[in-house]
Amino acid sequence: NEDQFKKVVSHAKEYGYIFASSEIYDGLSAVYDYAQNGVELKKNIREYWWRSMVYMHQNIVGIDSAILMHPTTWKASGHVDAFNDPLIDNKDSKKRYRADVLIEDHAEKIYQKAQKEIEKARKRFGESFDEEQYCATNERVINYLAENRRILERMGKSLGNEDLADVKALIDELEIADPETGSKNWTEVRQFNLMFGTKLGASAESAMDLYLRPETAQGIFVNFLNVQKSGRMKIPFGIAQTGKAFRNEIVARQFIFRMREFEQMEMQFFVRPGDEMKWYEYWKKTRLNWHLSLGMGAENYRFHDHEKLAHYANAAADIEFNFPFGFKELEGIHSRTDFDLKAHEKFSGKKLQFFDPELNESYVPYVVETSIGLDRMFLAVLSNSLQDETLEDGSIRTVLKLPAILAPVKAAVLPLIKRDGLPEIAQKIIDDLQWDYNVIYDEKDAVGRRYRRQDAVGTPFCITVDHRTIEDNTVTIRYRDSMEQERIKIEEISEKMKETISF
Ligand code: GAP
Repeated sequence: NEDQFKKVVSHAKEYGYIFASSEIYDGLSAVYDYAQNGVELKKNIREYWWRSMVYMHQNIVGIDSAILMHPTTWKASGHVDAFNDPLIDNKDSKKRYRADVLIEDHAEKIYQKAQKEIEKARKRFGESFDEEQYCATNERVINYLAENRRILERMGKSLGNEDLADVKALIDELEIADPETGSKNWTEVRQFNLMFGTKLGASAESAMDLYLRPETAQGIFVNFLNVQKSGRMKIPFGIAQTGKAFRNEIVARQFIFRMREFEQMEMQFFVRPGDEMKWYEYWKKTRLNWHLSLGMGAENYRFHDHEKLAHYANAAADIEFNFPFGFKELEGIHSRTDFDLKAHEKFSGKKLQFFDPELNESYVPYVVETSIGLDRMFLAVLSNSLQDETLEDGSIRTVLKLPAILAPVKAAVLPLIKRDGLPEIAQKIIDDLQWDYNVIYDEKDAVGRRYRRQDAVGTPFCITVDHRTIEDNTVTIRYRDSMEQERIKIEEISEKMKETISF
């Protein structure tokens, strides 16, 4: 819901997770900076992905290819010709929109009308309300849902055939207005390429037009043979990489959900032609399990199998996550056939094949890809973790229940007061722990307030040093989620933390 989403955005700023880029100049639309805690959370998500993909699979290796690539790459991949969004301008307001988003928003409003009817009926009938039966029999609801489907299907068909005149006709037919001014005076719909262009070289004549990569995957495809040979890889094998990608998104909404500069974590798995569906199913299952292992609630994930496929795919599914603004794509798993390697063979004139000793033949491998946005995963983790809890005394506790393994700060070490040698003992504990964990020291304010501050940052453990510590070498360890406290020996702290936060 909208309130929860607003809370996430302001919490991210207040507690040092995310700032708008170049904020002192009023920011840059859909570009963000990761702050002192954000950079740690992002790094931990990346590492959790990398370990489970690269270290846990003996047949997957990682690379780090350059953001700038030879421009022919993007001819071959289809991005120059087909990486487009349908754009429309309003002649009166001069505002620019994505035509498909205008139509989707319109369809969503109709869907919401159905939801309102359902909610009204639920209130009226109380316990005995049967939603399924109501939706099947109430004429108004049936009509709303049918209209929603009709609009989305017609839009999907027109975009699939690149019939932009029909997309415009649909906007006119539905009498969609500019959301800000209400004007219905639209231009035609046209394609807009999402790649950012740049130039290599100084002089105007010799300069070469380049693109900032819109996906990391192509850096893997063009290195397929290099990695296969130098790593003596045998099919099936995978190449993984994490890194920045750039898209000149027209509609920049929903905070870090859709950004112009973002990071992807992608893996291309090269398989024998004919085996791709088996591996596609394997990776769907394996990737969902990765998400579930973080304990953010199985009910918050669902698969969305694509009916309409991109030109390069013979099967595709999204893992959708329940964001504060509803279920939306978090990760894609695509069976990309031999489309990319074949295209690079054609454009480069180099053979990109694998000699399979078992079959005694060479072939262009098929590819199953897993592709997840790191920033989008960050948003999933952050929004899922932020909770307001009502405590027994009626007060509200804001707590960021991050999976402990991903938390930016693992422990805060707090001297109860600023004297009697307690700060020195706390510092000594930090000196030992900081070899293994990101830990911080805090002596400001009453200890209760310090606990709350760490709750809001998402720190799983607070270690408090008090006068008893001087006598018996014990400290209090407080657990973020349960708020329970336990007395343990200083030498036991590291082991205790390891139980919950080691990879
Ligand atoms: N190589 C395949 C590929 O790039 P995609 O569906 O275009 O596929 C994969 O992108 C993932 O990258 C998405 O599931 C999403 O998590 C993330 N992503 C895509 N565009 C994004 C954007 N503008 N901002 C943030 N994340 C984005």
